[in-house]
Amino acid sequence: MAEQKTFYITTAIYYANSNLHIGHSYEIVLADVMARYKKLRGYDVKFLTGMDEHGQKVERAAAAEDIAPQQYVDAIADATKELFCDVLGIDYDIFIRTTDEKHKNTVKKIFKTLYDKGDIYKSDYEGLYCIPYETFYTEHNLKVGKCPECDRGVEPVKESSYFFRLSKYQDRLIEHIENNPDFIQPKSRQNEMLNNFLRPGLEDLCVSRTTFKWGVPVEFDPEHVIYVWVDALTNYITALDYLGEDDVLYQKYWPADVQLVGKDIVRFHTIIWPALLMALGEPLPKQVAGHGFLNIDGKKMGKSIGNVVDPRVLVGRYGADAIRYFLMREVVFGQDGNFTNEALIGRINADLANDLGNLLSRTVGMVEKYFGGQLPAAQAPTDFDESLINTGLTAVQNAEGYFDKMQFSYALNEIWDFVRRANKYIDEVMPWQLFKEGGKEDVLAGSLYMLAESLRIIAAVIGPVMPNTPAAIYSQLNIAGDELKTWESAKKFGLLARDARVSKGDIVFPRIDIKKELEELAGI
Ligand code: ME8
Ligand code: MG
Repeated sequence: MAEQKTFYITTAIYYANSNLHIGHSYEIVLADVMARYKKLRGYDVKFLTGMDEHGQKVERAAAAEDIAPQQYVDAIADATKELFCDVLGIDYDIFIRTTDEKHKNTVKKIFKTLYDKGDIYKSDYEGLYCIPYETFYTEHNLKVGKCPECDRGVEPVKESSYFFRLSKYQDRLIEHIENNPDFIQPKSRQNEMLNNFLRPGLEDLCVSRTTFKWGVPVEFDPEHVIYVWVDALTNYITALDYLGEDDVLYQKYWPADVQLVGKDIVRFHTIIWPALLMALGEPLPKQVAGHGFLNIDGKKMGKSIGNVVDPRVLVGRYGADAIRYFLMREVVFGQDGNFTNEALIGRINADLANDLGNLLSRTVGMVEKYFGGQLPAAQAPTDFDESLINTGLTAVQNAEGYFDKMQFSYALNEIWDFVRRANKYIDEVMPWQLFKEGGKEDVLAGSLYMLAESLRIIAAVIGPVMPNTPAAIYSQLNIAGDELKTWESAKKFGLLARDARVSKGDIVFPRIDIKKELEELAGI
């Protein structure tokens, strides 16, 4: 048997932050959709996410609550796992925490390895540091005296520190990026990295601090704590037991196929991270994909402006599948997207309640009404079958191409062309007319069969985005075995038994009274 192909996908590891918002959810859902899609396509998938728990920001936040930093991050890690698994339906394989003993030990080993190789050296450092963004700046990097990324004040630091010879890797990084056009996606971010950072020149990077304690100490100089970004970036390989006694996971899954990160941290992942890997003599990830930001009402999301949207509240009201659908449908990969309650409810009503929900309830309702819930085996085609089949098969084929490229908004667009075509088919065939006229039971049955088949195909291809909805469709169509639920099975019409039986179920996406709902949401 041919060996199963592996697929290793990672998200950024989230700062230990009790306020994970719908923007963070966007990234983890993107990764989850890709992981589920690849599993459906037969890959041996490893999906990593986790939590970035060290640094001065955490130390200060814990002190403000008068608890130990470990206790502080433990509570947040538990809440985050619960948010991912129980609320958003994320099916990750590994949740790494940078406070895991295994991770800390490997980070120490990595630091020592780079020091022994001469790629890390000790020197004096004087500069400016942004604590919330955990980044060093020189005066000319600042934006009107403030952190260019988060617009907050920076603090001067002067200390003896360890440095990573980042400058040494400048030419190799440029060469790698130029020779591997898929390495940084989308293309706009690639140009940004080359023109704004790499070509102007890299400086060596300060990779240790002595002014706080909450981090991984340098083993051979324990006054020093390893820079949080070195600690954090290496999670992608420490999670696979890199440098461990048994590194079979590392051998199997590294290099990663896709490392998904937001646009604000593409720089860390396409400059510092590959340089560290080059210094270690390890292969680089095949791709770093930088997604855009989700804004709220056109504004940047964040604690400071008080517009953080809580994914728990949204999922509690509309269900995980609706929220996942909205995020994947509304935001074009690589671009920024906008979240508003109006847009969310608008999509739920139009795409989910009206298009998909109605298609299911109308189809099942008609099979019940005209045939008592069971189609007769004697069927005849209608004039409109060919067009429906063509639309369906084309939609699946195009959606596959888009899924492969993580262009989920376009994939859903294709699938919904098919959903709407199937609804239009009902209006063309007018089953109620055929029923009234009588004598055309075979055509009536054939048309309802086409609709049931369309729903079966739709259920199979929406699964990565909406993991709960297919089960509702399958149960109403009485599809039990796995053969009719595979991706491959979505490429063929006519697989469902002709004498299919249906069972009416709950409305999958009830219509929302938008005016009333917006008023209620405004009051939360
Ligand atoms: O940056 N829309 O963690 P983080 C979309 N710990 N994505 C968003 C977003 C928004 N509004 N806000 C944040 C860190 N993100 C580091 C990463 S990786 C070795 C260390 C994304 O919690 C952000 O771009 O600030 C990042 O990819 C992820 O959420 C975690 O952000
Ligand atoms: Mg951030």
